[in-house]
Amino acid sequence: MKQQLEQIKTAALEAIENAQNSADCENVRVKYLGKKGELTAILKMMGGLSPEERPIMGQLVNTAKAEVDAALSKKVEQMQAEAEELKLKQETIDITMPAKQDKTGKLHPLNTVLNDMIDIFQSMGFDVVDGPEVETDHYNFECLNVPADHPARDMQDTFYLAENILLRTQTSAAQIRTMETRKPPIRVICPGRVFRADEVDATHSPVFHQIEGLVVDKGVTMCDLKGVLEQFAHEIYGPETKVKFRPSFFPFTEPSVEVDVSCSECGGKGCRVCKGAGWIEILGAGMVHPNVLRSCGIDPEEYSGFAFGIGLDRLTTTRYKISDIRLLFENDKRFLDQF
Ligand code: DAH
Repeated sequence: MKQQLEQIKTAALEAIENAQNSADCENVRVKYLGKKGELTAILKMMGGLSPEERPIMGQLVNTAKAEVDAALSKKVEQMQAEAEELKLKQETIDITMPAKQDKTGKLHPLNTVLNDMIDIFQSMGFDVVDGPEVETDHYNFECLNVPADHPARDMQDTFYLAENILLRTQTSAAQIRTMETRKPPIRVICPGRVFRADEVDATHSPVFHQIEGLVVDKGVTMCDLKGVLEQFAHEIYGPETKVKFRPSFFPFTEPSVEVDVSCSECGGKGCRVCKGAGWIEILGAGMVHPNVLRSCGIDPEEYSGFAFGIGLDRLTTTRYKISDIRLLFENDKRFLDQF
């Protein structure tokens, strides 16, 4: 019987050793340790033994059972550990793999240039103000010394929404609103969209952008205007940029000028960007007309000022060599992704 026990034990340990998976282990457990298992059966055979032999044999069987049980537990544990390790290996993340590119939004080129301009004027002490896009005839024309029969009021240029209500054709309307609400000294810029019933082509759009500037104080002269605008041009285009003031006419300024800068692309020789001229016109400006100051309750004998209106779209298309202004408004991602 002892021999038989030894054989069963050896067979059980071998079966455990050879087990490939948890199902094999379970089979071994049932086969040897289960209710009808071989080691259990041997215990049942002990009835035929003498009372002296019985406890000795009983102890041997129990030891064998414990040994097989321990070996089985160890095997199961080992298999679990192996399975765990395999799982971890399969789940490893390759941190050297290139990540998927995150698509983040970015600034529209018009906003990039506008932000630069705002920085420049704020560093010179200007405040940024806002004005409505839907304006009245009063603010857009009348107070700006544009008489009722001025061609700018023509239905072809101005989008009228109702009688005397229109889409502002110029940010200059913000000058009047500012002078009505602030007392000199005034130093503001007003960026915004303006609207004109222009025919659409590569250089014209019915919607475009201006940055209006206004300075009113005691003793403001044309020299101040030239200084501020020259400083602006040098900061936005570079210190080597030449700035040209040409006499011009605007109803709301006297005298009036238009300002050209030497083409940053060719340095003034003439190229595609400046259409061969060597110069690019960037703004209109002048000394605020006494009538305009008066219409806002500011005494032109005591105060003087200058104003300017910069075209943001032109500045943007020349900076980025954009050949068609319409690209700025079409929101084509393939275009915008390039900035
Ligand atoms: N409002 C003018 C335009 O749309 C631009 C302009 C010229 C603005 C002279 C001004 C100025 O403030 O003084 O063409």
